[in-house]
Amino acid sequence: MKKIAVLLMLAGLLLFVVSAMAQEKVAASQKPATTEKAVHKFVGSAKCKMCHNSPAKGDQFKIWSESKHAKAMEALATPKADSIAKAMGIAKATESDKCLGCHVTGYSAPASAKAATFTPTEGVGCEACHGAGSDFMAMSVMKDKAAALAAGLVMPDQKTCIVCHNDKSPTYKTFVYADFYKKIAHNKPVATK
Ligand code: HEC
Ligand code: HEC
Ligand code: HEC
Ligand code: HEC
Repeated sequence: MKKIAVLLMLAGLLLFVVSAMAQEKVAASQKPATTEKAVHKFVGSAKCKMCHNSPAKGDQFKIWSESKHAKAMEALATPKADSIAKAMGIAKATESDKCLGCHVTGYSAPASAKAATFTPTEGVGCEACHGAGSDFMAMSVMKDKAAALAAGLVMPDQKTCIVCHNDKSPTYKTFVYADFYKKIAHNKPVATK
């Protein structure tokens, strides 16, 4: 009697293990399909410059390049950065995960999502807010806003900013969207008359 009970238990256990393994296999075979779909690549702000650098259209590249975002990498090489890093036990701010995540475009994106033209030294570039540009930067796509959005263009709002502008920043300044937006605004000129 006892033997049968033990055998039944073993059989039950085996069934459980086999079905768990089968489930894992299904999960593993489903994974690539979800993670590998449509990886837009970061191309770097210089690629946006050729079309977004005229005063008539709003001078976006010039405005950005003179903003603090374009100097976010340099900011990690200042004496202030050194002292923040030192206090946190970080050897080099310019090389630390604890700093680069918010001071560089697409820091957590895999290498496969970065085109050869992309340079992390550009700091917080266009694509940190507007999304990786490889698939929307062609003129034919850009001219059609719906197509651009479908190809990865992001029209940023407050939610985009607070990914970085939050109290995990060692120098956090209370983020008020309207005030901060004014300092980086790069709108197209509104046609008068
Ligand atoms: C080949 C030229 C070209 C390149 C390169 C280009 N754009 Fe554009 N972009 C345009 C045109 C044309 C428009 C349509 C509106 C306009 O004239 O400003 C546009 C519109 C936009 C808009 C506004 C969308 C809207 O209609 O409100 C954003 C944001 C934008 N581009 C971001 C980028 C970023 C970021 C890059 C670099 C990754 C980039 N663009 C590269 C030509 C370009
Ligand atoms: C959560 C995102 C985030 C992280 C992580 C982060 N920063 Fe920053 N950093 C910011 C933002 C946003 C600013 C702009 C001002 C502000 O709100 O702090 C900034 C500004 C700075 C400045 C300029 C401040 C000034 O007043 O001149 C320095 C220096 C700096 N960070 C150093 C560091 C160092 C060093 C680390 C790593 C230990 C780090 N940051 C990690 C987001 C971050
Ligand atoms: C990828 C991270 C990131 C995102 C997203 C981001 N920022 Fe920043 N921002 C920074 C960092 C880092 C600095 C500091 C750079 C420096 O001091 O050189 C900064 C600085 C600024 C400053 C200058 C602050 C000062 O002390 O003068 C303004 C204004 C600003 N950001 C506005 C915005 C707005 C508005 C958005 C959203 C539309 C935004 N940022 C999105 C990382 C980010
Ligand atoms: C810190 C975040 C941030 C960065 C960096 C940034 N933008 Fe923007 N951009 C915005 C926001 C926010 C808007 C306004 C979105 C809206 O009106 O809905 C905007 C709007 C635009 C527009 C539309 C302007 C209009 O009036 O229709 C263009 C074009 C544009 N950005 C291009 C660029 C280019 C090119 C770069 C790099 C040279 C860049 N942006 C960098 C946040 C950013």
